[in-house]
Amino acid sequence: MTALDKNTLVAVIGAGAMGAGIAQVALQAGHPVALFDNRANAAQQAVQGLALQLGRLAEKGRMTESSLDDCLSRLHAIESLGQLAHAGLVIEAIVENIDVKRTVFQDLEDICEPTCILASNTSSLSITALAAGLKQPERVVGMHFFNPAPLMALVEVISGLATDEGVADCVYQTAIAWRKKPVHARSTPGFIVNRVARPFYAESFRLLQEQASDPATLDALMRDAGGFRMGAFELTDLIGHDVNYAVTCSVFDAYYSDTRFQPSLIQKELVDAGRFGRKSGQGFFEYHEGAVKPEPKVLSAKGVFDRCVVEGDLGVAQGLLARMGQAGIEVVQRGGLGLLRVGEAVMAMSDGRMASQRASEDGLQNLVLFDLAHDFTRTNRLAITWASNTSDQARIDAVSLLAQIGIQASALGDVPGLAVLRTVAMLVNEGAEVVLHGVSSAADVDLAMEAGVNYPIGPLAWADTIDPKTILDCLEHLQASYGEERYRPSLLLRRITQEGRRFHD
Ligand code: NAI
Repeated sequence: MTALDKNTLVAVIGAGAMGAGIAQVALQAGHPVALFDNRANAAQQAVQGLALQLGRLAEKGRMTESSLDDCLSRLHAIESLGQLAHAGLVIEAIVENIDVKRTVFQDLEDICEPTCILASNTSSLSITALAAGLKQPERVVGMHFFNPAPLMALVEVISGLATDEGVADCVYQTAIAWRKKPVHARSTPGFIVNRVARPFYAESFRLLQEQASDPATLDALMRDAGGFRMGAFELTDLIGHDVNYAVTCSVFDAYYSDTRFQPSLIQKELVDAGRFGRKSGQGFFEYHEGAVKPEPKVLSAKGVFDRCVVEGDLGVAQGLLARMGQAGIEVVQRGGLGLLRVGEAVMAMSDGRMASQRASEDGLQNLVLFDLAHDFTRTNRLAITWASNTSDQARIDAVSLLAQIGIQASALGDVPGLAVLRTVAMLVNEGAEVVLHGVSSAADVDLAMEAGVNYPIGPLAWADTIDPKTILDCLEHLQASYGEERYRPSLLLRRITQEGRRFHD
């Protein structure tokens, strides 16, 4: 199936934030665009807003005056749906209410030609349910843009039970022609992004609830070590806790209260208090004039080393060795099980066990665990924790070695899987479930999380670089520590680990 021809009329129903953005995308891709809203003057105002928006792009030299004129000549606000008889694609971006959306689709069925594709920008409603009862449910498809639509590359193309494969392919190809990055997904709650991203928030909230650290430190770890654009606390302050909490609750309910999606009482408290984040002046952080954002906590270093011993292979953390070499530290290699010995400290990357548990089970004295980093050759921050019987000197030695190679250490309580590792493990697990259930492919899960929420790398590709076995171990240890179903590893993760495969083999 090919993309829609540029001369095809694209109609956008709902001229709010998303509708106006989608209209701009279709317009810039060369289509004639009709915009409709049932609120008086809303479509006309959106057209004026788009003219200003495109005018600004022309002023900045991002589009020529003639293409500006051309764009504006193809954009029309319409007064009634009856004017859409010749539309080839209708995208609705109206209020998130299934009954209202269904009524609009029912009206459109009688107006548009049978070949016209009916797409919904819904972020939470079932495409299967939306299409049910229509005369031609096979032409209904999800076309889920992200906000702001002109800037965000991802489009989730959602197929309901009745959606014709050719219709989904046509929308997918059209999204490519519109310079977007589309992915295919079956209609399941949260589709890809709003489902796979849930643990990103949930694990940070849980670490805060367990008093492992404070929001500023946890955010800094997710940014600097994890490679994410923002930490969960600053990001949910930006999204708005009312919005983010509602999405979590809707996904939790839709999966029949599966504890993997359990909402956080910490976030509910903020919602109850009206602390919605930036828009209300306070969330996890304060935003009033003169408010100072707290700094992440860092442990103090004391002393330098000219030698350390590495026993075995540090796995994904092997990148630390080159940094030691550059810092003039002699690295003595021996056989062993992935330990780094410096001064009194015995260091290792977390495997999901608590430090005290691992020290006791593996018979290790002075154990200091460090967290996962997205790139150990470059990270400037790492979370560490230590066993209850680790000496103060061992802790200081570990912090000092890290400082010597340019890494600030932030302490976490002795929580299983620390911060980045357990979050990434849970993101991988959710991505694996999406693939296991045939909702989407591994490639599309990764693309969705990179293009939709700017993850530094898709979770399944990330698992491949770390080693899926490390992720499985972490989840099994989390499940054992908490005794909760929430951390149960996906069958697909077990399967590929058992077969010695990777997600992208
Ligand atoms: P909005 O509230 O800014 O705009 C909705 C517009 O639809 C309003 O102008 C309203 O007057 C109009 N409308 C309502 N009922 C109508 C009807 N029966 N016929 C014609 N027009 C009608 O909402 P927003 O944020 O643009 O969201 C629209 C849709 O996009 C929703 O389904 C939402 O879930 C989805 N979405 C929203 C995202 C966001 O970040 N805001 C991201 C992705 C999807």
